[in-house]
Amino acid sequence: MKKLAAGNWKMNGSLEVLAELAKLEIRHKESTVNVLICPPAIYIQTALSLFSSISIGAQDCHMYQSGAYTGNISAEMLADLGVNYVLVGHSERRIDHTETDSMVLQKALAAQTAGIKPIICIGETLNQRESGQTLNVIEKQMNGSLHKDLTSYPFVIAYEPVWAIGTGHVPSSQQIAEVHNFCRNYLEHNFHEIAANTPLLYGGSVKGSNAKKIFAIPNVDGALVGAASLKVDDFSSIIEALEKS
Ligand code: PGA
Repeated sequence: MKKLAAGNWKMNGSLEVLAELAKLEIRHKESTVNVLICPPAIYIQTALSLFSSISIGAQDCHMYQSGAYTGNISAEMLADLGVNYVLVGHSERRIDHTETDSMVLQKALAAQTAGIKPIICIGETLNQRESGQTLNVIEKQMNGSLHKDLTSYPFVIAYEPVWAIGTGHVPSSQQIAEVHNFCRNYLEHNFHEIAANTPLLYGGSVKGSNAKKIFAIPNVDGALVGAASLKVDDFSSIIEALEKS
């Protein structure tokens, strides 16, 4: 399985940042890992014209193909542009837009139908971790947002503890390993042969300085990177750590 370094810009960046990030194309031209940038939707088309070896993804899609859904974008429209990945169920969508596990599943299926790989995000809150609920929460999210129909097309899982996102607090290697092993076992049990080909990303305060340690953890096949994906040197050192892992 090819590893994946994915950048999630959230509602950040600009055309200038995009042009600057295009330097990554030269630095990682022959990369042994997949590199992905998910800018705000309005920048996707420009990004596609600037990048060729780096994939361009979206941060969300609607669960339906078309219709009276003002402000939304369908997976078909993303595919129309040439997008090949989309984040679904990021905790900021789950919390700010009250997205449920079943909505996340519908979006993931819509993405696959359009020929786009969904990156399904899961993760516990600090309260849930502190009350010993982490694995129960992860299992519940996977039960709700994964389905056997997903096996017809590749997908990716991103474990992002909500308390680690944008905080600088990274779980211990043991904590990450516990969840990633749990996810791999879950996939093996429920999705059989595709388990070994489904990348499990870690996300939450990944930086150049901690990437090597995170990528040394078993069953970590890459990262979903927020803030550090907006700066060429920062994102480049994460990609490099993944290439060497
Ligand atoms: P962060 O964000 O790297 O800034 O913590 C990660 C994410 O939300 O995907």
